[in-house]
Amino acid sequence: MFEKLNILDEKDERLRKISQETTFPLTEEDKKLIKQAIDELTYSQIEEYATKYGLRPGMGLAFPQLGLNKRIIIIVHEVEEGVFDEYVFVNPKIVSYSEEMIAAEVGEGCLSVNRDVEGHVPRYARVTVEGYDIDGNKIKVRAREELSIAFQHEIDHLNGILFFDRINKNKPFFNENEIRLI
Ligand code: NI
Repeated sequence: MFEKLNILDEKDERLRKISQETTFPLTEEDKKLIKQAIDELTYSQIEEYATKYGLRPGMGLAFPQLGLNKRIIIIVHEVEEGVFDEYVFVNPKIVSYSEEMIAAEVGEGCLSVNRDVEGHVPRYARVTVEGYDIDGNKIKVRAREELSIAFQHEIDHLNGILFFDRINKNKPFFNENEIRLI
């Protein structure tokens, strides 16, 4: 049975806190929420289920969005039609990043932000992220393009940052000469 998560809205102050490092073992509740988040993010990207369950498409979620002050992020990345890569990172850290910057051409969205926010969010084109899996094993990923944006967006949540904080109010849009739009 599919159970929808309670995701906090952008006005909630809990989204603005710095989340705490998580200790192992994870609680059963944490593991359950991680599984639920993977299911919900996956369903949200499959039109049939998105409609059926009334889900807004999203590829990532961070624990503070569930009202939990813990450094855990979940990303479900559609690599080809109907094929998804799942990433769960506990205590993720960006250990290196490219000089090149990119931005999503259509802007970013967030499951906590129930409105369209226009503007380009500058992000590193490539990042290497280290962290731990749910069992406490060290893991590492090299992410590029859309996936790189997703990791930066979710790690921002752990530091109380929402994507629109990074949009330049005086110059919300870049052109192709300034930043590569994807
Ligand atoms: Ni978000």
